[in-house]
Amino acid sequence: MEIKELIKAAKEASARSYSPYSKYRVGAALLTMDGKIYTGANIENAAFPAGMCAERVALFDAIKNGDNKFEALVIYAEGVNFPFPCGICRQVISEFTRDIKIIIARSEDEYVIKNISELLPDSFEFTI
Ligand code: THU
Repeated sequence: MEIKELIKAAKEASARSYSPYSKYRVGAALLTMDGKIYTGANIENAAFPAGMCAERVALFDAIKNGDNKFEALVIYAEGVNFPFPCGICRQVISEFTRDIKIIIARSEDEYVIKNISELLPDSFEFTI
């Protein structure tokens, strides 16, 4: 799977964003080790905190379907800045992935690639 193809899938997902409040359309595309793609888009709500980020929509869909081995995640949003994931999404991503490529794209050709330990060093893990 080419990075470009995964970026396209995230871009297509961003077109299905429900974001009447921020007007910021985010799409995510999550590639599993066996080549499946789960997508997500941000879904907002009149009660703002009830909304959900695109990355978590994709990740939760994959987990709910029994997929938990991932290769890459694209987060796509067109705007002035690269769409770096919010802190909550970084924590959720860290729960399910270790060294996958996280591709942060603001167009089909403009992206940066990070891994989760760069985005969230010393992440919280639940151990007692
Ligand atoms: N958003 C995401 O979808 N992913 C992030 O990592 C950051 C923020 C969405 C949430 C909200 O719908 C909009 O972007 C503006 O914050």
